[in-house]
Amino acid sequence: MQTPVSLRSFPTTLTVNGTAHTLSVDPRTSVLDALRDQLQITSVKKGCDHGQCGACTVLLDGERVLSCLCLAASADGAEVVTAEGLGSAGNLHPMQQAFLENDGFQCGYCTPGQICSAVGALQELAEGMPSHVTPDVRATPQLTDAEIRERLSGNLCRCGAYVNIVAAVREAAQTAKAQAVQPIALPTELGVKV
Ligand code: FES
Ligand code: FES
Repeated sequence: MQTPVSLRSFPTTLTVNGTAHTLSVDPRTSVLDALRDQLQITSVKKGCDHGQCGACTVLLDGERVLSCLCLAASADGAEVVTAEGLGSAGNLHPMQQAFLENDGFQCGYCTPGQICSAVGALQELAEGMPSHVTPDVRATPQLTDAEIRERLSGNLCRCGAYVNIVAAVREAAQTAKAQAVQPIALPTELGVKV
């Protein structure tokens, strides 16, 4: 009898924070579960598992995604960057540094996702991608607090650190000595497109 597709495992290669991993995944396995359960990368949090909270946000091939909604088998060959891949204790990414300096977190559960999402949001801004609050979608969007709030509205923080998160994102863009809509420089070896 033929094995149902749902019971088969697929060899899947994910390059995570610069290291390639070949995994054997059930076709229903999300990138989130592959990262946490097979690679023990637990900075990537499972909040809702339904695309509602943003806690699982990672950068996949340079774009922010909700890893609970991405199937690992579909991401075969992709490069994934998580919060720990953006910087290290002695060499923090500007966004991580800004979250520290602005008290952009309390319990920290949402923070890795907030940081990955913020990095992706600045990149989208730099690419000129408008948001729901961009006044004129034909003009280059500017890094306003309204844009930051809107672009991070998919990342929930039940501690309510939002004011400081907005300040951190605003500061990170400046720390990188970038114009408001310029991308902040990320290490290309981590696979994040800038
Ligand atoms: S765990 Fe993915 S959006 Fe909540
Ligand atoms: S810092 Fe507590 S949920 Fe965000």
